[in-house]
Amino acid sequence: MPKSVNRRLLLAKRPGRAGVTQDCFRLEEAEVPAPGPGQLLIRVLWLSCDPAMRGWIAEGPNYSEPVPLGGVMRSFTLGRVEVSQHPDYPVGSYVSGRQGWQDWAISDGSDIDRIVDPEQAPLSANLHLLGMTGLTAYLGLTDVGRPKVGETVVVSTAAGAVGSVVGQVAKLLGCRTVGITGSSGKVSDCLETYGYDAAINYRDYETTDALASALAEVCPAGVDVYYDMTAGWISDAVMGQIAIGARIVVVGTMAMPSTPPPVGPRYSRQMLVTRATMTGFLVLDHFDRLEEAVTKLGAWYREGRLRYREDVTEGLERAPEALMKLLNGRTRGKVLVKLAD
Ligand SMILES: NC(=O)c1ccc[n+]([C@@H]2O[C@H](COP(=O)([O-])OP(=O)(O)OC[C@H]3O[C@@H](n4cnc5c(N)ncnc54)[C@H](OP(=O)(O)O)[C@@H]3O)[C@@H](O)[C@H]2O)c1
Repeated sequence: MPKSVNRRLLLAKRPGRAGVTQDCFRLEEAEVPAPGPGQLLIRVLWLSCDPAMRGWIAEGPNYSEPVPLGGVMRSFTLGRVEVSQHPDYPVGSYVSGRQGWQDWAISDGSDIDRIVDPEQAPLSANLHLLGMTGLTAYLGLTDVGRPKVGETVVVSTAAGAVGSVVGQVAKLLGCRTVGITGSSGKVSDCLETYGYDAAINYRDYETTDALASALAEVCPAGVDVYYDMTAGWISDAVMGQIAIGARIVVVGTMAMPSTPPPVGPRYSRQMLVTRATMTGFLVLDHFDRLEEAVTKLGAWYREGRLRYREDVTEGLERAPEALMKLLNGRTRGKVLVKLAD
């Protein structure tokens, strides 16, 4: 049995008006637990930070139960099996799952998503390109967006963990890609790293109309697929540009305040005139297709056709800081916390 203590970050309080703050979390030390029959002990090596965490720790209703006060912070994780009494998970294997913000975790396998092959890609990539993020990008785009060769695909939060994969996959499928993002550095990432045909920094525009005009210039034939991760005023600008038969994939709401409920333009007439469809997509409904997405994205990655960028913070105790940076839009690429080699 490992001798070290188990450091865990617990939810100390729910975010208030100031949003997620350091004091929402409390560091606690406990004994490293011992696995019983049918269980395994995992050394957590990497944590994923995701915008969804804001919803997981909020009071209000969401698509999943909120993390309880005093509970270990929920998180996608990548770890190594150190002790095992489970036939499916031998000692030394690497697993991706949901072990939370802690150094060590006991599992019975129900919170493990897959056994990871360290030969296929760097371990950390299994928390983004070859994990939940990649699955969201790949299925949301191909199943719901259904892009056809030559169509224009617009992506908001285009340089982020999900957006960067959506843009590259759309390009690989023969589409014209346009990214919307929040800084000149991220515009460069979109154009130079992720191969978007055009990219727009929404912060250069003060009004929805001005952003809509900029979009109209780079989407002269309209928008066939809108992969929407912001909602709010950014999406208001895109909705004025949708083409006949457009597919709008609603995946995130980064630009939409939770309170008060936002009031924006009414889309009904545009939806009617263009016979467009708008569909919500939640990755948690699709984990049974993780292997399919990993196979496809992994093959493209090994052929050198998919690129990514990571924003790594070192140390469990700094996970809240990494999450706050992510939610403030100050990160570039997939936000990860490294706990150990
Ligand atoms: N439905 C699902 O199953 C599912 C699964 C995974 C992720 N998502 C959603 O997809 C979105 C992107 O997730 P991700 O992991 O790829 O994160 P990410 O894009 O790497 O990071 C979030 C980005 O959101 C943007 N942002 C922050 N505040 C904003 C604001 N007020 N207005 C506009 N943009 C803002 C920032 O990019 P800019 O600087 O470019 O603005 C920030 O970097 C999130 O909304 C997330 O909840 C949904």
